[in-house]
Amino acid sequence: MHLSAPQIIELPKFLDSRGNLSFIEETKHIPFKIERVYWIYDVPGGETRGGHAFKIQQELIIALSGSFDVIINDGENKSTFSLNRSYYGLFIPCGLWRQMQNFSTNSLALVLSSTNYTPEDYIYDYQEFISFKQKHKR
Ligand code: TYD
Repeated sequence: MHLSAPQIIELPKFLDSRGNLSFIEETKHIPFKIERVYWIYDVPGGETRGGHAFKIQQELIIALSGSFDVIINDGENKSTFSLNRSYYGLFIPCGLWRQMQNFSTNSLALVLSSTNYTPEDYIYDYQEFISFKQKHKR
C-alpha cells in the first residue's frame, strides 16, 4: 500500500445492536508500521495543537471522540479535513505543515505514528519549512 497525498481513510466498522467496533491493521489499512501511539485530550475551547511539520514521520489521526479540524499546508496550498467519526482516519505523509483546531468539548484525538518520538524530526519554524520544501522539490 502506497499513499503519497493526505487523505481520509475509511476504516472497517462492524455496527450491530451491541454497539460499534472498528480496527486498524498496520500496512493493510495504513501504509506504515506503527512505532508510536499518542493521544490529545482535554483541549480547552479555542486552542490549537500541532503547528509544525515532520521531515520523516507519517501519521494517521483519528477523532476517537468528538470532532476537530486538521489543516494541512504543503507550502503552497492549504486543505482542511474535518474529523468527526471514529471510523475515519486522516493519513498525513511526511513533509507537510499541519495544525489541529476547533476541538469540540471532550474530543479525543488518537495519533498513530510511523516513528518513535524524535525531536529532530520536527520543523517548528514556518520559514524553515518553506526552505525545506524548496530543497526537496522534485
Ligand atoms: P507538542 O509537539 O507540543 O504537541 P502538539 O504537536 O500537539 O503541538 O508536544 C507536547 C509535549 O509532549 C512536548 O514537550 C513533546 C512531548 N511529546 C513527547 O514526549 N512524546 C511524544 O510522542 C509527543 C507527541 C510529544
